[in-house]
Amino acid sequence: MTGSRQAVCRDEGLPVAAIARDGRLTFPTTQDFDRAWELGIFYLKVPAHLDLESARQFGSELLALDSPYHSIQQYGALEGFIALKNNQQTKVALRRQHWDQHYPAEISEFGRQLDRIGIAILREVFSQSGIPEPLWDDASGGYSSGEGTAFLNFVHYDTRNPDLGLHPHTDYGFVTILDATTPGLQVEVNGRFEDVPVLPGHFVINFGEALHFITAHSERAVGAVVHRVLSQQSADPIRQSIVYFANPDLDGRLWQYDAKGDVKGSSSVQDFFAILEKNLTQYR
Ligand SMILES: [Fe+2]
Repeated sequence: MTGSRQAVCRDEGLPVAAIARDGRLTFPTTQDFDRAWELGIFYLKVPAHLDLESARQFGSELLALDSPYHSIQQYGALEGFIALKNNQQTKVALRRQHWDQHYPAEISEFGRQLDRIGIAILREVFSQSGIPEPLWDDASGGYSSGEGTAFLNFVHYDTRNPDLGLHPHTDYGFVTILDATTPGLQVEVNGRFEDVPVLPGHFVINFGEALHFITAHSERAVGAVVHRVLSQQSADPIRQSIVYFANPDLDGRLWQYDAKGDVKGSSSVQDFFAILEKNLTQYR
């Protein structure tokens, strides 16, 4: 497959999925489906009922220096107004349990609509994996039935920091839903970074490490794709994005099953994420 993967983003374009009327993730052809699963990244048509414009508007209001969200309450290291030192990304990040308290009602509702998309994608991954359905909930730390952890983050890139927009990494969780209106995202395919062009009216979906872990012994494993964001310059349009992370319960466990339903391994989520963090630090 290596030859056909070489220029998959540039020449062939990423596969494009949609959420069907029955709520399932669908691709136009089996080949598109296979490529999406092989690459770990694809486009998803934004469902018609989603009020993406309002969410984008909310994100753009956070750029104002006097935005009250710049002094939003911190919850640990992962939630609040976060400006990371080692890249240009600056964000307001909140877990689902804090959306109603801090986000306007329509933004919380937007997040819950993304929950449904995340669940649809996860359930399709499980369905393909052959892991018996009664085990999906345990395997995913509750996410597949609406629990687990979800982050809804509004991001922009601070060009006063001359670093990469975002250093190469894989996402830790299950599924990431990204809305970005300007270029900069790249994915690694066979050791080479390729642009992921903005496709209007579509999210970019990628799989994360926790999903790779769960499906590793199943009939159809999925991989976590390495990606980065190029350094943004002050002359560029301000790069803003909305990012939704579907994650396991951070205090829970992940289970690996084969298609017979036998347990092949498990890890606490904290240990699993700690190992990823250590590897990422070494990578840098
Ligand atoms: Fe990422």
